[in-house]
Amino acid sequence: MQQVNPARFMDMLQRLATFGAVPGGGVAREALTISELEARRWLCSRFSAPHYRWYMDDAANLFLRRAGLADALTPVMTGSHIDTQPVGGWLDGAYGVVAGMELFLALDDAGIRTQRPLELVIWTNEEGSRFSPGAMGSSAFADPTRLADFLPVTDAGGERFEQARDAARQATPAATSRALGRPVHAYLEAHIEQGPVLEDGGFQLGIVTGIQGVRWFEISVTGVSAHAGTTPLAARHDALMSAAQLISRLGEMAAARQDPALRFTVGRLEVSPGSINTIADRVTFTIDLRHPEEAVLAEMEALIRQTVEAKTGACGYALRSLMRRPPTRFDKAVIETVAAAVSATGAPACRLGSGAFHDAMYLADVCPTAMLFVPSHKGISHNPAEDTAEADLVAGVRALAGAVITLATP
Ligand code: GLV
Ligand code: MN
Ligand code: MN
Ligand code: MN
Repeated sequence: MQQVNPARFMDMLQRLATFGAVPGGGVAREALTISELEARRWLCSRFSAPHYRWYMDDAANLFLRRAGLADALTPVMTGSHIDTQPVGGWLDGAYGVVAGMELFLALDDAGIRTQRPLELVIWTNEEGSRFSPGAMGSSAFADPTRLADFLPVTDAGGERFEQARDAARQATPAATSRALGRPVHAYLEAHIEQGPVLEDGGFQLGIVTGIQGVRWFEISVTGVSAHAGTTPLAARHDALMSAAQLISRLGEMAAARQDPALRFTVGRLEVSPGSINTIADRVTFTIDLRHPEEAVLAEMEALIRQTVEAKTGACGYALRSLMRRPPTRFDKAVIETVAAAVSATGAPACRLGSGAFHDAMYLADVCPTAMLFVPSHKGISHNPAEDTAEADLVAGVRALAGAVITLATP
């Protein structure tokens, strides 16, 4: 689409990165924090023409609706998330949201009103680093009964998701409230790849065919706190020593499978009371497990449970499931629409599966869905060094525009 304006698009992307910018690099804009709410307010301030309306639902998902010529038809939706990891990069999520903003502004410049209404969505808490599980907003949109499980979830400081959601409502007066979940004609999400496949292959665009499965667990190890200077080694119930042994046993077990598609990560370790001269009485750690095949995830979960249950001795062990999502396969027709729009840009492209999860995995439950990737420099993401060449970012916006315009024509 000719009206896509690279300078305006890059300017908006850079502006969004100032909300929660960390001196020295990276963005700290976890879900529903003050920085994220300020960024949401800035987004709202950019669109106020009469054919635009802002809405927010009970999961604090924020929607910008662009009226269609046949406005009673179900909308075509695009978007992503603007929450980040505790310190993340500037493009994860933000890219898909700003790509949608640029698409809407380019349509305005071209004087185009699509038949179907369009909606740009900013999903709540995709990352899951502040409130677990991830992709909470899109999950609740796809199945509103899940909201009841999410509202009581607390962050590390004890704030409930429900409180944060209410604060978001108050901070976004421009958005009218709207019920959670509704029919969508099609969903298309643009995102950075967050892995090395596109860059290594010399591709500018990726047509995403699906998302691998993911399971999250939290394991708690309970011991007894005691004085570090007086308690003999043999008399201890040391939760941290036990957790360290368990983590290394689980890591060895994952590595022993020699499966290049398996991902196993212990990314969070909390130690109580966390004092240099007190033996730890409680440790919790998380496991993020991923694989493209559900059967492998089930087998790995059984092995993890067996390994935890087999741990006997001084401490107690408990395992809790935090997130469980089978592999997602995107809709064939939307994939082909994306492929045609990509091919019209002339950019070198390939088809690939996603290693990261995205809100699109829940939208795929309720409407025809697919994704579009742009390369990530050296495959780096969830890291302040995350980056993508401007030409690739812009090629993605053009392909997104082509595909959304096609999908919005009934
Ligand atoms: C989302 O950020 C993921 O962990 O894949
Ligand atoms: Mn993301
Ligand atoms: Mn992410
Ligand atoms: Mn993600």
